[in-house]
Amino acid sequence: MTTTLITGANKGLGKESARLLVEAGHTVWVGARDEARGRAAAAELGARFVRLDVTDDDAVAAAFATIAAAGTGLDVLVNNAGIAVRRGDGEALDGPSVLQTFDTNAVGIVRVTQAALPLLQLSANPVVVNVSSALGSFWATHEPSRPASHYVAIAYGSSKAAVSMLTVQYAMAYPGIRFNAVEPGITATELGGGDPGSHPGRPAAESARIVAKLATIGPDGPTGTFQEDAGELGW
Ligand SMILES: NC(=O)c1ccc[n+]([C@@H]2O[C@H](COP(=O)([O-])OP(=O)(O)OC[C@H]3O[C@@H](n4cnc5c(N)ncnc54)[C@H](OP(=O)(O)O)[C@@H]3O)[C@@H](O)[C@H]2O)c1
Repeated sequence: MTTTLITGANKGLGKESARLLVEAGHTVWVGARDEARGRAAAAELGARFVRLDVTDDDAVAAAFATIAAAGTGLDVLVNNAGIAVRRGDGEALDGPSVLQTFDTNAVGIVRVTQAALPLLQLSANPVVVNVSSALGSFWATHEPSRPASHYVAIAYGSSKAAVSMLTVQYAMAYPGIRFNAVEPGITATELGGGDPGSHPGRPAAESARIVAKLATIGPDGPTGTFQEDAGELGW
């Protein structure tokens, strides 16, 4: 039995990834900072709920204490929780907003991964997927054929560039665990704080497939890579 924790799984890509992994037979923990929304999503999906705010050290410690006490173990961690802070029709670039972006998108991955390591290291097939973005790819932002080269995202993009290096560094530090970053594709979610579907893009259920694919790799799977639907993506 494979057990998977997904952060920010109450809606959007995280929820659809949870749905696919439940269908694949995983025991899934829906991590969510809001208890009511998280419990509702977990009940709908046939998953377990754990309260988890990736910006709160105590909440992260409590979440892993809950998972450890439940005795499910942990094989797969999907670091999905992420934000893009907008003000008016642009990105919010004041200090607190940018700190919040980096705290959630990058530091949150370190907080959750560090707390997950003791359980992951007990797994026969430990896997970590970091949900990143092509907006954090130096290659894609310099490639005219890619949307990322035409879309400015100063704080969000640089926080996702940090996710790339976190992926590479963790892959080097823990060769027994497969760490990969994923670009899910432009997806219609509430990212950026809009109404459901206000973000342009394809349905979350479609984009979640690449997340589920990387979450279900075996011991011979890749590590330290950046992946999208078409295969490997340049850093
Ligand atoms: N949509 C796209 O086009 C796109 C493209 C590339 C990458 N991504 C990435 O995909 C991931 C999922 O985003 P999405 O598009 O599905 O957006 P979304 O619908 O806004 O979902 C984001 C999820 O993250 C959660 N979250 C935010 N801050 C959190 C915190 N401090 N602790 C725990 N959970 C937190 C949200 O919870 P609440 O409901 O409590 O806010 C929500 O469950 C993000 O990492 C995003 O950067 C999205």
